[in-house]
Amino acid sequence: MCPTAPLPDSGLDVARLRADTPGVAFGTHLNNAGASLPPAPVHAAIQAHLQAELELGGYEAADSRQAEIRGAYAAVETLLGATPGSVAFVENATVAFSQALSSLPFGRGDVILTTRHDYVSNQLMYLSLAERFGVELLRAPDAPEGGVDTQAMIELLHRRRPRLVAMTHIPTNSGLVQDPVPVAQAARERGIPFLLDACQSVGQIPLDVREIGATFVAATARKFLRGPRGSGFLWVDPEALEAGLTPLFPDLHGADWIEADLLQPAPDARRFENWEFAWALVLGTGAAARYATSCGLERIQDRAWALAALLREKLAAVEGITVLDRGPRLGAIVTATVAGWRPGELVADLRRAGIRTSALDRGSAVLDFDARGIQEALRLSPHAFTTEDELQLATDALADRVASRRV
Ligand SMILES: Cc1ncc(COP(=O)(O)O)c(C=O)c1O
Repeated sequence: MCPTAPLPDSGLDVARLRADTPGVAFGTHLNNAGASLPPAPVHAAIQAHLQAELELGGYEAADSRQAEIRGAYAAVETLLGATPGSVAFVENATVAFSQALSSLPFGRGDVILTTRHDYVSNQLMYLSLAERFGVELLRAPDAPEGGVDTQAMIELLHRRRPRLVAMTHIPTNSGLVQDPVPVAQAARERGIPFLLDACQSVGQIPLDVREIGATFVAATARKFLRGPRGSGFLWVDPEALEAGLTPLFPDLHGADWIEADLLQPAPDARRFENWEFAWALVLGTGAAARYATSCGLERIQDRAWALAALLREKLAAVEGITVLDRGPRLGAIVTATVAGWRPGELVADLRRAGIRTSALDRGSAVLDFDARGIQEALRLSPHAFTTEDELQLATDALADRVASRRV
């Protein structure tokens, strides 16, 4: 194999990152695009709240920890460069996305403009809107080098005047990183809402909602942000809140019932939340946001992307492994096929060897996989706490498995 250059110094203290991550002692975690290993402060924040619930009861615990809860909102707002009152906590990115969609009054013939790389559940929601309300789904074409053709998308935006423009920043099924900024800004100039799925990008790269210019940003806690499972959030542009965008199904937390036939939405992004909360997970998410901010998102991106590039190089050098990622910018998700093995089988076999990866089937990316003739793929997603030795371990394990089935 070609000798590889050492990784550029990201400025991160990797030993410290690993010391903060108890899970690294239990295996090689290359499934950060699925669910990452939380750092110790995330676990501590969750435990502290569960302890309070144990001692006081759920309602009383939440009442007694209002300062910590406000701190969690502030931490996520800081992570996103957002202003106070613009973040709603929800259960996951899918709920964040659907809450945002529900705030738009879709009617027959309305157009949703999106890309061929939007997440599977988002595509399913668009299809459901098409079926129920007669919405037209328009997917901008790809550029020859991979990822959406930004200019073509902007032209469609001007020509078709969509009701909504939506884009997945980093798709689940490849290393591709799409650039939302030019499209979000074109949408903003026309007063068209722009919904960004930042599920894989939050915690992986810097995200500044002011710079992007979106109307909504939907995200989850458990992936590159390294928060707990079961927590996500939606950022809503304060101007959109001011203009009266509200979710279709508010509850008694998101709105007040002020007269028999009158509701009044909460003044801030809370209107996108429900009353019942796993506050321990909200606090864990706040701790994850604080941790990522303290590490520095640029540094995390530099290291995670460099590790992923190195992994692609290592895998591509193994006969029988085909690296699938393509696009002008590639992030921390690596996808590949491995001769003689189905990805699901590999995931199980590698897991027995202490290496954690995940498998993608056609249903996770019908458009992209069909266009590229891919049936299934193995996904490996390093994070900043991953080491080069771990990449080598995973590469050797895969090379052994290819050899074991070579005919
Ligand atoms: C790009 C993208 N968007 C949205 C989601 C959905 O996130 P959640 O499972 O938190 O709803 C995922 C999950 O893998 C994803 O990769």
